[in-house]
Amino acid sequence: MYPSLRDEYTRIFRYLRLSLTDVCNFRCGYCLPNGYNKCDSEDPLNLEEIKNLVTGFIDLGIEKIRLTGGEPTLRRDLLPIIEMIKDIDANIKVALTTNGFSLPSLLTRLKASGLNALNISLDSLNAQRFAAIRGKNISKQILQSIDLALELGFDRVKVNAVLLKGENDSEIHDYLEWIKVRPISARFIELMRTNENSNYFSQHFISAESIKKQLIDLGWREVARSISDGPAREFSHPEYVGRIGLIAPYSKGFCESCNRLRVSAKGALRLCLFGDGDYSLRKFLQSPSQRPELTDAVLSALRLKPKSHRLNEENSGNMNSLSTIGG
Ligand code: 5AD
Ligand code: SF4
Repeated sequence: MYPSLRDEYTRIFRYLRLSLTDVCNFRCGYCLPNGYNKCDSEDPLNLEEIKNLVTGFIDLGIEKIRLTGGEPTLRRDLLPIIEMIKDIDANIKVALTTNGFSLPSLLTRLKASGLNALNISLDSLNAQRFAAIRGKNISKQILQSIDLALELGFDRVKVNAVLLKGENDSEIHDYLEWIKVRPISARFIELMRTNENSNYFSQHFISAESIKKQLIDLGWREVARSISDGPAREFSHPEYVGRIGLIAPYSKGFCESCNRLRVSAKGALRLCLFGDGDYSLRKFLQSPSQRPELTDAVLSALRLKPKSHRLNEENSGNMNSLSTIGG
């Protein structure tokens, strides 16, 4: 076992976000307004490569793996991937971020495969607005899937809404009502500028500070954070079962609590969402015997992890769309 993954700024990384595919079947206005467009011919990592990658990161002290996309449920081997990770180490927490489209047919099997936690995007509770933002009129099915996920007993069910001025910023009371009796963490994420969404960003960005004020006025209080918590801030209220989370990358000090590393569907380590580049690990994933080279490559790249993003300078690095790495 290696010492924990730690960077030059004393941040510790026990959380890996692994994209399984760039492909997505939605057209969210802030991400892929024109839908997915295949732009290169390289296949995503196969099951063996993922196994070698995950084994290496577990050696390095990773305790939680989130599977993301694009849309990870579009991978036909999603269930075998989850089972394979749980086989390597049953204590590793495996979570899935999904747009929810495939949940009606997959949910029970996801639970049986050993998946621990689900994170479902739900940008609006209003069916028409949901369809306008995400390009698919399926919010009713998603709401039903969320209730089924709660019944199935996943450790955690989180819901993500990208905060959009003039769209869902008027819905806070609806979300509060909805989580009153549901043990859900509903998280509002500040819209992040990418190289492809700058117009959308100028029209729709709104700071999470306005939501925080409303919550405090309504008697919500911030939950104390532990050192290993990531950048999300959570709020609770004695009369509500659910919680509200705020993810505010434009707020001061956001990057100080960064606790995650990201690997793209093609096996490239991305140190910062809004960095200028990434480090291909694929050449070290071809055989289990390459594990020392893999872990050395990760440890040396980590020394170069930037202290923070430069979004406040309108610099998104080379990030064109979060669909390539899953946020
Ligand atoms: N800003 C904020 N969140 C985004 N997501 C995708 N693109 C952006 C963006 N530009 C979100 C998705 C999903 C998660 C994977 O990332 O809505 O909730
Ligand atoms: Fe971490 Fe980069 Fe995200 Fe900041 S922007 S929290 S440094 S990954």
